[in-house]
Amino acid sequence: MAERAGLWQPELARIEDQHAGLLREMDNLLDALRLGRPAGELAHLLGRVIQYLEEHFRLEEVLMARAGFPELHPHRLLHQSCLGQLRGERDRLSLSGPRGLDSYRELTQVWFRDHMERQDHRFESFLRRQERDAHPAAP
Ligand SMILES: [Fe+2]
Repeated sequence: MAERAGLWQPELARIEDQHAGLLREMDNLLDALRLGRPAGELAHLLGRVIQYLEEHFRLEEVLMARAGFPELHPHRLLHQSCLGQLRGERDRLSLSGPRGLDSYRELTQVWFRDHMERQDHRFESFLRRQERDAHPAAP
């Protein structure tokens, strides 16, 4: 356990950086939707969001496995569900154009922010508890 102490700080910072990057990518697509950009551009931006999320979720899950996070499995299911929805949006976009992205706003604004604030926060708290347990504060 002692070898874990302090180990998570860089990883927590990386997750936080990725969350900020993700919000930027998601906002880029929302802006393009608002501006009525062509479907090809929307598809490109959605592809970037999906790719970023795939990498981000992979990092989170690797860290969860390394840390022995007991909620890895249900958390992974949430990630898979999100990616499944976004891939569905991508398919609908190619079939019906921008209307295919009607639920994108809710998915990103509601789902992702809630996921970060509630679900990911549980993992961060778990890591911080591990560090505290390994290095209890001096009396
Ligand atoms: Fe997550």
